[in-house]
Amino acid sequence: MFVIAPSILSADFARLGDEVKQVIASGADWIHFDVMDNHYVPNLTIGPLVCAAIRPLTEAPIDVHLMVRPVDRIVPDFALAGANIITFHPEASEHVDRTLSLIRENGCQAGLVFNPATPLAYLEYVMDRIDLVLLMSVNPGFGGQAFIPSTLAKLGAARSMIDRYAEKSGRLIRLEIDGGVKVDNIAEIARAGADTFVAGSAVFGASRAEDAHRYDSVIRALRAQLASR
Ligand code: DX5
Ligand code: ZN
Repeated sequence: MFVIAPSILSADFARLGDEVKQVIASGADWIHFDVMDNHYVPNLTIGPLVCAAIRPLTEAPIDVHLMVRPVDRIVPDFALAGANIITFHPEASEHVDRTLSLIRENGCQAGLVFNPATPLAYLEYVMDRIDLVLLMSVNPGFGGQAFIPSTLAKLGAARSMIDRYAEKSGRLIRLEIDGGVKVDNIAEIARAGADTFVAGSAVFGASRAEDAHRYDSVIRALRAQLASR
């Protein structure tokens, strides 16, 4: 039931293909793919070409987190590049409902991303159009920042909305957390309601040893914390 989605933002970009293969061989479930445009967020990262380049290397779902404005133009490109899940920030889209439909029409699962200070109210009328809710526990733009504690209460609120909706509809919506997730706080984050965990620096910063599966021990430690939550 728990999903661990390492963010390749903290991977070694000069060896990105190997990093993707190694982290999946080490037990990760999804690849989290952070797209930043130097406009919606103050950083510039990777786009559909890089997504297409890693697509043949793994069958694991690619979870594309769009931190871009405008949103709609780039959606079909990521679908063609092999994205499985596409999430975006509602403030960055002119028409949130339309963008959610566009993602699904392009064959991907869709999700909304909430910055630390963005209220969950956007969810109210679109629960039937989303597969995933992503809460930011840092301000978007950079890896390696500290987890913002107020996100724990927000996770609880999002969990209640999702559970209420599941009772009514029978549909399960994932609740993903992104930013500052570490071995020493993942259990608390799970208790607050998250079921899907992005971890960038915690995973890719963990070890630089030269063995083939060098992310095994940190992913095992994250899962052990989840099992004991
Ligand atoms: C931040 C990104 C995150 C980031 C997480 O804007 O969305 O996915 O890579 O990195 P850590 O786990 O290092 O906080
Ligand atoms: Zn992200």
